[in-house]
Amino acid sequence: MTNLLILGGTTEANALAKAVAQLGIPATYSYAGRVENPRPQPVQVRVGGFGGAAGLARYLSDSAVTHVVDATHPFAAQMSGNAVAACAETGVPLAALTRPEWAAQDGDRWQHASDTAAAVAALSGPAQRVFLAVGRMHLEDFAAQPQHHYLLRLVDEPDMLPLPNCDVVVSRGPFTVEEDLALIMRHETQLVVSKNAGGTGARAKLDAARALGVPVLMIDRPTLPKRVEFSGVTQVLDWLTHP
Ligand SMILES: NC(=O)c1ccc[n+]([C@@H]2O[C@H](COP(=O)([O-])OP(=O)(O)OC[C@H]3O[C@@H](n4cnc5c(N)ncnc54)[C@H](OP(=O)(O)O)[C@@H]3O)[C@@H](O)[C@H]2O)c1
Repeated sequence: MTNLLILGGTTEANALAKAVAQLGIPATYSYAGRVENPRPQPVQVRVGGFGGAAGLARYLSDSAVTHVVDATHPFAAQMSGNAVAACAETGVPLAALTRPEWAAQDGDRWQHASDTAAAVAALSGPAQRVFLAVGRMHLEDFAAQPQHHYLLRLVDEPDMLPLPNCDVVVSRGPFTVEEDLALIMRHETQLVVSKNAGGTGARAKLDAARALGVPVLMIDRPTLPKRVEFSGVTQVLDWLTHP
């Protein structure tokens, strides 16, 4: 009998959880525990790290997991690497549910950075009003460029401001283009810094930036180990039911 582990924290993982719940496929949804009130799921939920690849391998054996779907964010490289290693060790089949990268369109003014450190380095110029739309992790790295005024959009109210010169907007996506046009105009944003997350939930800021002629510093995706990859829930369900 199938016993699926979904490595989650994304819209894609939520859609998969909904689909397997509707089909009555037993599944557990795993959250890292980064946000205070994670969305409820229609399947069993567990929260928190496993303790590296070895901890995940132990969990897979102890919980008799038959399939793992890595539906984590494309920038969750550590978790994805651990999933590949733990599934190889235990022989549990692994598939990734991924989303295509965003590609620049006519009118976009994108500059690319290979990772967060490169994005920080690219901000070495004069003071600007920067919409730092990169989530909560690694914000402190941008303190190395303290000349800018940063706009942060976070899921939870931070305990303390992660950067000296910043405004925080607490909001959980998905966001609309109208909302992001208004946000960028209200904050007089001169540069948007974004991870190339792909998908629909966070892309409104890019459409808004294009419409307003605002440049984007795009952090490219980390390289992940090779694994079976699907881009849709239906394909994952086929894989689960017709291995
Ligand atoms: N990175 C982003 O930009 C981003 C954006 C939106 C959502 N998310 C979501 O936020 C979570 C954390 O992302 P991250 O970039 O911090 O990951 P990461 O750097 O790849 O992972 C660091 C550690 O966090 C734990 N972890 C990560 N995802 C987990 C999950 N789904 N279930 C249980 N433990 C998990 C693992 O701890 P152990 O080694 O102890 O197992 C992992 O080694 C993921 O669920 C991801 O889908 C990330």
